[in-house]
Amino acid sequence: MKTKKSARIKITGTGMYVPEKVLTNKDLEKMVDTSDEWITTRSGIKERHITAPDETTADMAVIAGKRAVEDAGLTVKDIDLILVATSTPDTIFPSTATWVQKGLNADYAPAFDLSAGCTGFLYGMIVSEGLLLSGSAARVLLIGTECLSKITNWKDRNTCVLFGDGAAAAVLEKSGDESGMLSSYWKADGNLGELLILPGGGVLNPASHKTVDEGLHYLRMKGNEVFKHAVKRMGEAALMALKKAGIKREDIDYLIPHQANIRIIQATGRRLKLPEEKVFSNIHKYGNMSVATIPIGLHELKEEGKLKKGADIVMVAFGAGFTWAAVVYKW
Ligand code: UT7
Repeated sequence: MKTKKSARIKITGTGMYVPEKVLTNKDLEKMVDTSDEWITTRSGIKERHITAPDETTADMAVIAGKRAVEDAGLTVKDIDLILVATSTPDTIFPSTATWVQKGLNADYAPAFDLSAGCTGFLYGMIVSEGLLLSGSAARVLLIGTECLSKITNWKDRNTCVLFGDGAAAAVLEKSGDESGMLSSYWKADGNLGELLILPGGGVLNPASHKTVDEGLHYLRMKGNEVFKHAVKRMGEAALMALKKAGIKREDIDYLIPHQANIRIIQATGRRLKLPEEKVFSNIHKYGNMSVATIPIGLHELKEEGKLKKGADIVMVAFGAGFTWAAVVYKW
């Protein structure tokens, strides 16, 4: 549904963090049988940021979260819900959100994780909208944080060239004006879960010497299958959310698609008939950071001064599950 002017939520602060270490395609050429040329033409990626050995998903989230709270002109004490979207939790339990709550020293703010693959930040916005409009929370700190380097098999060229680590956060509050979230669309299809999966470590394949020997603790992806579904579903979700918002394709100021592959990004832009300059991309410098790509994109566009008041933005994602979603947002 399109939300009424009096019943909208908006982003009042953003922040991001990427680890210091940069791994380039040239570095990867020395690690696996690949080339800068293959990675660039097939994915659009040139380099990615990788966490230090002792740096975690929660550590990145704490830094991004603090920056977003500060950007909103608030203190951590003002936050009354911490929602962390991730597929790479520090521990299966307790949730990464509670580690983040500890790191932020946000005493007693409720905190929980949301697992929806690369779509997690948009699912998180939709969940936050319900909680904010019902009055269950007044200021949500929504964080998308991912440490994929620690679940990557660095000997598997099919996957290790694609991913990077990073986090970004947004403070969400009720909107008092016409800016904010206009509409959303979200879907999932659990029948296709095996195509993008971390098979080991959960109760399906509890960690054992055998699961480690078989590499079940590494991310697995049937890349070309995922690719086809991503192209179809991202275009479809964006169009559905636009229809709900009553906004025409030609009126979009920016499309911020999940950054998994430049060819998926461009295909989604073409489906919406958008000129290249309206389709945001930063995949060349970060790779696929899963749930962190959309909030980092949003933060970078904002910092570059490109999000003028009243700008209409479409955010769209696809990921493990499968899950897919789109949000239309007036800046
Ligand atoms: O974020 C969640 C959603 N994720 C995605 O949306 C990712 C979707 N998938 C993709 O982005 C692409 O499918 C990939 C970038 C993963 C792969 O591109 P592709 O055009 O689908 O290539 P492919 O998997 O069909 O592989 C083509 C060839 C294969 O060789 P043969 O069998 O044709 O001889 C691969 O073995 O490329 C080979 N290959 C590589 N060669 C050099 C695969 N990885 C590499 C590599 N370097 N790193």
